Amino acid sequence: MNPRLYSFLGKQSGPWRVQRIVHVCGDTLPDVSHIELVAGSPDVPSVWALRGVTSNERYVERSEKTQLVAVQQGLGRPEASRAALIPIRKNAAWWALTQDERRQIFEDVSHHNAIGMEYLPPIARRLHHCRDLPEESPFDFLTWFEFAPEHEAAFDSLLTRLRATPEWGYVEREVEIRLERA
Ligand code: HEM
Repeated sequence: MNPRLYSFLGKQSGPWRVQRIVHVCGDTLPDVSHIELVAGSPDVPSVWALRGVTSNERYVERSEKTQLVAVQQGLGRPEASRAALIPIRKNAAWWALTQDERRQIFEDVSHHNAIGMEYLPPIARRLHHCRDLPEESPFDFLTWFEFAPEHEAAFDSLLTRLRATPEWGYVEREVEIRLERA
């Protein structure tokens, strides 16, 4: 089994209870009451399953990576009883760009990492890529965040700021699933 493969299962029971599903753009996902995040791709019943793999970074430069590694927190902190699963698909125009053009939009123009860094260490994150899988996927990325309830408002403001950037002009499908520990 690929140790970088994870599945997000939309179910009617599980460790994370759905608070709300916000339809940001493009098609939403079928309603579920719970989400389970599991390693690999187990054959368990679910309403839907989204799969992605963690991967090497594409855009961060050395100084940014060093800073990130120094402050970022891991998943599963006991106080992090809130989470968000935000599956995202970018459009064909994004994928037609070259690596250096994408980096320019991502950081030089949109300051994605610089903005995000303001919210660390309270927000823990893990990025999963779907385009690296053999099967076709409805999303390009599955983004996962964990935080304590007192940082919920900060997380909301982070979302507002990122969605106002030129990078988000390339997002054609986004669903925000907000969760609390069941
Ligand atoms: C990618 C940082 C929050 C969505 C990245 C990357 C970094 C980063 C460094 C690039 C990784 C690479 O080099 O390949 C952060 C930080 C955040 C944050 C520090 C603070 C919590 C968010 C949020 C969202 C998001 C809230 C969704 C609403 C994405 C997506 C990518 C990404 C979709 C992949 C972009 C692409 O490869 O085209 N993030 N991020 N990030 N992030 Fe964030």
